[in-house]
Amino acid sequence: MEARQAFLVKCLSTGLMLSDSIGYLLLQLELEMVVMNWLSKLLQLPRSFSFSNDGDGGGVLLGTTCEAIICTLLAAKEKMLDKIGRTNTEKLVVYCSDQTHVGLEKAAKIVGIKPENVRKVLTTKSTNFKLTPESLNDVIKRDVESGLIQIYLCATVGTTSTTTVDPLAPLCELSSKYNMGVHVDATYAGSACICPEFRHFLDGVEGASSFSFNAHKWLLTNLACCCLWVKDKSALTIPLSTNSEYLTNKATESGQVVDYKDWQIALTRRFQALKLWMVLRSNGVTGLRAFIRNHVKMAKNFEGQVTMDSRFEIVVPRYFYVVCFRVSPCSINEHHGKNYEANEFNHKLLESINATGLVYMTHSVVGGVYFIRFSVGATLTEDRHIQLAWELVQGKATSLLGTQTPKTASYSDNPKEET
Ligand SMILES: Cc1ncc(COP(=O)(O)O)c(C=O)c1O
Repeated sequence: MEARQAFLVKCLSTGLMLSDSIGYLLLQLELEMVVMNWLSKLLQLPRSFSFSNDGDGGGVLLGTTCEAIICTLLAAKEKMLDKIGRTNTEKLVVYCSDQTHVGLEKAAKIVGIKPENVRKVLTTKSTNFKLTPESLNDVIKRDVESGLIQIYLCATVGTTSTTTVDPLAPLCELSSKYNMGVHVDATYAGSACICPEFRHFLDGVEGASSFSFNAHKWLLTNLACCCLWVKDKSALTIPLSTNSEYLTNKATESGQVVDYKDWQIALTRRFQALKLWMVLRSNGVTGLRAFIRNHVKMAKNFEGQVTMDSRFEIVVPRYFYVVCFRVSPCSINEHHGKNYEANEFNHKLLESINATGLVYMTHSVVGGVYFIRFSVGATLTEDRHIQLAWELVQGKATSLLGTQTPKTASYSDNPKEET
């Protein structure tokens, strides 16, 4: 969202709040329901996640994914304890992969799941660090034999390190065999799924219990705005609802509005819906899709340049706007001898790139491999910035390797390809 719009939204929401607090509250609740249903349609989420007269689903705007995970994990825990008895907390087990965001471990601590009952299933390079149903099943089977009870799987669409995508359909199918709920964490990549050519990454989401993404990551929305949808709103609202005389009001009692205080940790809430409404109305679906496609095109361009310089390698395939790359161990060995460690070399390369102050790139390590993450996410990035970044990377690699920058033809995108 542009700064002018953000300012306007802030003024508008403050003005409304001062003018009539109950009216403001009702407007906030109703607009949130409308906006969440619009977004759900845009993402082609199953109808069971939307507010409707004949279903139990719905969406809520929270601040962050960590909050979404805490709330949905608490819902799963409470539902299971109601069934098996409140003294059995120690038996509850939560599943994820070694690529799942660390927020899940924190959420488990907060809701009272033992840290040793959070299973981080190993992923490997052979599957591009996706969580596979086979490896998950092996871990679950051992837990079942030990008398433990499965309550929650967190699957990720766009992991933090490499933006890989867990296969939702087989994971949800497996989880349903064990009566385990699945939360889909699409914090970063969820926005891309408003484009038909990326929607396939959500195939299978109909088998999940909840889905969330952060609109502030990649949907032109100001911090912080996490969109969460659940299939069974009562699973969430039963453990999270609180009541007191000073909270009673006619609107809630009439059942005509959703009392969002029971969908989140805090009672007070910001008018996030107005922010998202503004984003959707001012950019339109066409504008938002064009924004995402342009970022992916620029990342693809950078990736193309990397692949044309034989000194570099792509570490994990690119799906969205993050390119994971490094100088290959072969090139390093060729110029520095076998003793030079690839991880150390790439760490030095990243430091020298960032020290210029012209660009800022980040790193991660997967399967013991240190790599550089080139991310196009900023709103104002243009093709010329990508070119500058690539020339900078090449130049720094050249001086660290002590070689010449190879003369390669410039990369040209094939407009027929979609991703
Ligand atoms: C996949 C994934 N999940 C969760 C998070 C945490 O998000 P938040 O800061 O909104 O809690 C991140 C943050 O980057 C992420 O990449």
